[in-house]
Amino acid sequence: MTIKPKTGNNNLPKVFIKTFGCQMNKLDSELIFGSLVKKGYMLVSDEEIADVILFNTCSVRQKAEDKVYSQLGRLKKRKEERPDLIIGVMGCMAQNEGEKILERMPHVSLVCGTRMFLKLPSFLEEINRSNRQILAINEDVTVDYDRLVTQRLNRFSAFVSIMRGCDNYCSYCIVPYVRGREFSRSVEDIVNEVKGLVDDGCKEITLLGQNVNSYGKGLHSNSTLATLLQKLDTVDGIERIRFVTSHPKDMSKEILEAVGELRSVCEHLHMPAQSGSDRILQKMRRFYTSSQYRELIDMARDLVPDITIASDFIVGFPGESDDDFNDTVTLMKEVRYQNCFTFKYSPRTGTYAEKFVDDVTEEIKKKRNHILLELQSEISTKMNKEKIGKSVEVLVEGTSKTDKSKLTGRTRQNQIVVFHSPERFFPEHSISDSRAGDPSSFIGKLVNVTINDATDLTLYGCVRE
Ligand code: SAH
Ligand code: SF4
Ligand code: F3S
Repeated sequence: MTIKPKTGNNNLPKVFIKTFGCQMNKLDSELIFGSLVKKGYMLVSDEEIADVILFNTCSVRQKAEDKVYSQLGRLKKRKEERPDLIIGVMGCMAQNEGEKILERMPHVSLVCGTRMFLKLPSFLEEINRSNRQILAINEDVTVDYDRLVTQRLNRFSAFVSIMRGCDNYCSYCIVPYVRGREFSRSVEDIVNEVKGLVDDGCKEITLLGQNVNSYGKGLHSNSTLATLLQKLDTVDGIERIRFVTSHPKDMSKEILEAVGELRSVCEHLHMPAQSGSDRILQKMRRFYTSSQYRELIDMARDLVPDITIASDFIVGFPGESDDDFNDTVTLMKEVRYQNCFTFKYSPRTGTYAEKFVDDVTEEIKKKRNHILLELQSEISTKMNKEKIGKSVEVLVEGTSKTDKSKLTGRTRQNQIVVFHSPERFFPEHSISDSRAGDPSSFIGKLVNVTINDATDLTLYGCVRE
């Protein structure tokens, strides 16, 4: 059974969870929700009717934290009107800001960090009983859980964490401080979780970690990401396996061979370069040069000819000159990414880069960000247009937001596809399946779509007749 947010009016305590940040946070929200459902809570999609409002937060840039403070400020009045309302802050910003949140926002009842979230039901009980504020940000706790695989927000696609934390300490990044030391889960736990998810109807699994390429470090089993992928590929019923994020310094030929050879592993890599300038990469403490990065891209394309590659870039890192930035532009042009996420550098307290002067002005950061976005859009459009006339396999995710008669899904290479509802092309279906008129009956299925148009972010097509 998949749990959908309800707006119903029954007597179960209602919880609303808003998630900020990365996929790891999305997964944690699902785990949090699973632990609450076991205790009789119900998830609602309307904050106004909730008895418990939780923000699962991100600290990666200052803006992400500011957003949460502003949303918390907005809730002050509601708490005055409804003193029994519980407002909780979870995740990375809870870990990072800790007590400061309770001081700045006294109407918040709970601040719960990245390693204590599975204790949430007992914290809520305690708050209900004693009406006291709780601060739970211990760092010496390992996140260990037995997932209730039936409690999912997406029936056909699921995240599975294969590791937590990060030991890389890239100089700009707060993640190692808020998520703690790197820790790989055992192969057995991961395989069991994946089997449970697939038995429950899941077709696509995305393996999560801040640096999945170093999976296995610290385990006694000599496992690597490549051997884990081999094992998971044999799980009966699994259609697609993805993994994020790949750190270039830990990418190996074995991993790329696994992507090329294993049936279910999708031909897509998210391998952030962050910058194209060797000088900046060194200051970022990334431990590779732009030519080593290019060699990895060549190896990936050699071993997996139809692979698509995505990246993250930071513009305006301290000391980034026009020349450094131009090196990034050149790298972007040469690699021809499928898509890129670009960010303006945001200084984070406690990181190594904090000691560098944030000397690139906001105006220049904005300008450089804009240049990268425009360039990437041009490249993506060209690459997507090359798909016109070709057939792609799509896992149907849902109906299109703008046109309910159309369906949307992703290719193995992670491109978004919007296409005509298959019922028009499967006349036999309308006879044998009473739901044939409802395009949503195709959600979760794999279909072949012929592409007839493309923009930078989307392919358009129809199901092959
Ligand atoms: N572990 C992942 C991503 C972590 S955060 C990885 O290593 O790829 C996601 C992205 O946010 C990073 O890739 C980086 O591009 C960006 N980022 C991290 N810290 C930042 C900062 N202080 N300012 C701006 N962008 C940042
Ligand atoms: Fe941050 Fe670097 Fe770790 Fe990614 S690998 S989470 S960018 S420290
Ligand atoms: Fe993710 Fe943001 Fe935390 S990127 S790990 S939610 S700081």
